[in-house]
Amino acid sequence: MDFERLISERYSVRAYKNTSVEEWKIEKILQAARLAPSAANRQPYKIIVIDTKGKESELRKVYDADWFVQAPVVIAICGIKKEAWTRRDGKNHLDIDCAIAMDHMILAATDLGLGTCWICAFSPSEAKKLLRIPDGVEVIALTPVGYPADTPGTKKRKDLKQLVCRDFWQ
Ligand SMILES: Cc1cc2nc3c(=O)[nH]c(=O)nc-3n(C[C@H](O)[C@H](O)[C@H](O)COP(=O)(O)O)c2cc1C
Repeated sequence: MDFERLISERYSVRAYKNTSVEEWKIEKILQAARLAPSAANRQPYKIIVIDTKGKESELRKVYDADWFVQAPVVIAICGIKKEAWTRRDGKNHLDIDCAIAMDHMILAATDLGLGTCWICAFSPSEAKKLLRIPDGVEVIALTPVGYPADTPGTKKRKDLKQLVCRDFWQ
């Protein structure tokens, strides 16, 4: 899919078909994360691929939506804070690195005809418990992965004029 089509066709999918996702597609999605840039090339994360079948009730404790557990797969990106690059002023870049990797996966999934939805409004404590996350590691974001069973709405976005200025803040 060409890039312009890819970024305009991606949308937050909130209904999924009861169709499994081919393993080669999951592999391609994970390779996209692997190729993502990260600060100082640290790649300070681990990606957990979760088969939802049989885990629906536990997953609902993490994020309570029918469509979340309808998808055959959920992918979680988990950040390892001590491995992330920290700037001199102390700013740790973990969240940025994880977001880039997640976005690469989401765009790769779109390119393969799959639906996804960024999920950050989940319960961190339930996610930690379910995924057996050790201390020092944080679940940053989740996405279901599956074949869409809904259709995209219209994309509401700010105008470029509201988002961009030239040379300095105005
Ligand atoms: C960092 C981030 C967190 C998000 N968390 C959630 C979430 O917890 N639940 C949800 O339904 N959508 C979530 N979304 C999806 C946004 O609501 C959605 O991307 C936005 O409304 C634009 O719609 P679109 O993705 O269909 O273009 C999140 C998106 C981002 C980028």
